[in-house]
Amino acid sequence: ARLVVLISGTGSNLAAVLAAIEQGTLTGAQVVAVIADVDAAGLDHARSCSIPTAVVRLADHEDRAAWDRALADEVASHAPDLIVLAGFMRLLGAPMLERFGGRIINTHPALLPSFPGAHGVRDALAYGVKVTGATVIEVDAGIDTGRILDQRPVLIEPGDTEDTLHERIKEVERVMIVDVIRDLLQAAPVGPPTTTLEADRNT
Ligand code: GRF
Repeated sequence: ARLVVLISGTGSNLAAVLAAIEQGTLTGAQVVAVIADVDAAGLDHARSCSIPTAVVRLADHEDRAAWDRALADEVASHAPDLIVLAGFMRLLGAPMLERFGGRIINTHPALLPSFPGAHGVRDALAYGVKVTGATVIEVDAGIDTGRILDQRPVLIEPGDTEDTLHERIKEVERVMIVDVIRDLLQAAPVGPPTTTLEADRNT
């Protein structure tokens, strides 16, 4: 299956996916492109693995709608079966959802539906919850509202800061994102994962 990974940051989740493919623990998958909305540090890792990269910057487009179309065009040019948002910090617009809906997954650093949005770790800490975690969802038009595919807890420890907590959550995310991709590909080995996602919805 052809994976396109979208990032905005360091790309440690991307690195985990690439390592799993390299080590043979995620078979049948290849990352055919890594696309970012900024000059994300994770692009360097993709380049060092000879994976095609692209940066689709909002500032290079006339408005948000034009950026949405450009992003969808760039993604489409790589003919993906599955699109993985791995720390991609922008909402997807209609062009992405219309073309790839049901084939996009996102990892979020909190136990949804609690603490959606860009500051899931900070918000959980500020609220004072004792357990938070990570969630992988199927992306829909809302802010972290899509169907939950997997979810794992992380305990908050005394003295945790946003950084220390986020690091422990990311350790969990890196394992979970690979597990979810493996499950999706195993469930739909010959076709795009959308087949499975949509079939599930009707049961
Ligand atoms: C992850 O915690 C992801 O859930 C969040 O941003 C982080 C990305 O980390 N939205 P990385 O770029 O994969 O290292």
